[in-house]
Amino acid sequence: MSTLDRIAALESEATAAIAASASVDALAQTRLRYLGRKSELPLLLRAISQLPPEERAAVGAAANRTRQTLEALVSAREGDLASGAISAAEALDVTLPGSPPLPNGHLHLITQTRREIEDVFLGLGFQIAEGPEVELVEYNFDALNTDATHPSRARSDTFYIDDETVLRVHTSPVQVRAMIAQPPPLYVIAPGRVFRPDNDATHAPQFHQIEGLAVDEGVTLADLKGTLLAFARQIFGDQREVLLRPHFFPFTEPSVEVDVSCFNCQAGYLRDGSRCPLCKGSGWLEVLGAGMVDPNVFAYVAEHGYDPERVTGFAFGMGIERIAMLRHGVPDLRLYFDNDLRFLGQFGAR
Ligand code: DAH
Repeated sequence: MSTLDRIAALESEATAAIAASASVDALAQTRLRYLGRKSELPLLLRAISQLPPEERAAVGAAANRTRQTLEALVSAREGDLASGAISAAEALDVTLPGSPPLPNGHLHLITQTRREIEDVFLGLGFQIAEGPEVELVEYNFDALNTDATHPSRARSDTFYIDDETVLRVHTSPVQVRAMIAQPPPLYVIAPGRVFRPDNDATHAPQFHQIEGLAVDEGVTLADLKGTLLAFARQIFGDQREVLLRPHFFPFTEPSVEVDVSCFNCQAGYLRDGSRCPLCKGSGWLEVLGAGMVDPNVFAYVAEHGYDPERVTGFAFGMGIERIAMLRHGVPDLRLYFDNDLRFLGQFGAR
């Protein structure tokens, strides 16, 4: 190989090595190997005197050009690596805490309460079912044995989308959907948002309920009471008792309103003898509606395996806002939806 060819070969070899140097240190090594005092290129230059005179000028010029080219490549690469190092250090690291660090948020009290109630019923073997917020009049009212003249069907008491469609006024239509979807035995709860044209300290146009439905052979009112007692004790404290008072709901027969013994007092009175402000001296807190599933509701879904002669069931429905109001002494339902952090921040991670 002639000296000129060797210089050309060195140049392409070194060019590749410079480009492949991935760090400032590696680049320094590469430079030493191809341009250092003891590397081949300067040695070739120094040996020029031993070449025939007519070759010397060309070899000298080629070696110098190559040296300048490689030096330029090294410093360009150096610049790239240096600026790369800086921009990596300055790159946005989204895992770093903010400056100043922002506190972590937490779940809204209603979400926390919903999850706690769900956990109670999941622990009792219930599954979670869901249904749409925009619901058929048929499922919201008719299938639930609600008479055509029932006052809650009035245009002033329910948000109608059209004649067949409403914003559901309760989570009870999920009972119907769950039964259509699955034959008995059925143990479901259905949490979700519901809507009514109300707005005051204890009523909001949208709020949350949790429905419960258990259908099996031989389910009785005693099963309902035992289930609700387990719920009451896990949510309000293990000293609680439940009281079932007769009531009316279209979709249950018999129907009850369920009270839980007040956790804030002894039988209506505080230690200092004054009347308990939470239960207003009654010793009981009303927490939900419930009852035994009306046979007419089963008749509506009989073709899906719900023979009213064979199965019985209990159902219940509660307002999540109300449960949380009672537990935490929240005086006004609208606080939940105002998004004022002075209120919401009191219910941080627990
Ligand atoms: N849907 C009723 C309401 O919104 C609550 C309710 C009462 C649900 C009795 C039930 C029940 O499942 O059995 O006021």
